[in-house]
Amino acid sequence: MVFLLPDGRRLEVEVAEGVRVLDAARAAGIPIEGACGGALACATCHVMLPEAWYARFPPPSPEEEEMLELAPELSPTSRLGCQLRLEAGLEGVTIQVPASSLLA
Ligand code: FES
Repeated sequence: MVFLLPDGRRLEVEVAEGVRVLDAARAAGIPIEGACGGALACATCHVMLPEAWYARFPPPSPEEEEMLELAPELSPTSRLGCQLRLEAGLEGVTIQVPASSLLA
């Protein structure tokens, strides 16, 4: 999969099936905040998907949608990185990490 960073860098990483996007980013050294560790109690793991990829993930739960409303830089293809798992068939997905999700 590929991470697009706010500074324009494009980071290509190998990720095992079933890993959450939040964990994949951290393993790649990207300091996504993810303050609640995936408990759906923050929006600091906010990421964006290209439109074509957005529909390929299971849709967000009502709880995720509620939390997303708190995310700065919200877009129509925003998701929470702790709620996205990289299942089979999602190889090559590109995930954009907004500056507001990175630890300072
Ligand atoms: S880490 Fe808090 S909602 Fe994802």
